[in-house]
Amino acid sequence: MTPFGIRKRIKRLISGARGGSTAPEQGFDVAFVLPDGSTRSVRTEAQYTLTMASQLLETPIDTPCPDGHCGLCQVRILEGLGSLAPESTTEAEILDKVLGPGRDKAIRLACHARLRGPGVKVAVQKVWRLEEIRGNT
Ligand code: FES
Repeated sequence: MTPFGIRKRIKRLISGARGGSTAPEQGFDVAFVLPDGSTRSVRTEAQYTLTMASQLLETPIDTPCPDGHCGLCQVRILEGLGSLAPESTTEAEILDKVLGPGRDKAIRLACHARLRGPGVKVAVQKVWRLEEIRGNT
């Protein structure tokens, strides 16, 4: 078993490039409400973080740091909070530091929050835009 099922994900990407489906054979849908108000659903698997699941979107969640400590990948869980793994100690510490200890528990860090089941709907605050990456904004 590779970390995060890398082999399985690569296989899926290759089959998608050949015209096959990129959706996992088993799994469940996660709905992302994007900053423009549109909603996109992707088929994903348990144990994916919200960031990993969002990689299947045209505009994935913006994740500014490589080590999961900036606290800027905040998302609001609109539905299905119980279908996410509970906050880890690290995620809780970062959110407490950034938002304060009396914070809204529906706010999670996309790079930490792991999916456990279906019914999750997430409001995304910032996504990667190709224009920003290229510096054309
Ligand atoms: S991208 Fe920095 S904490 Fe998630």
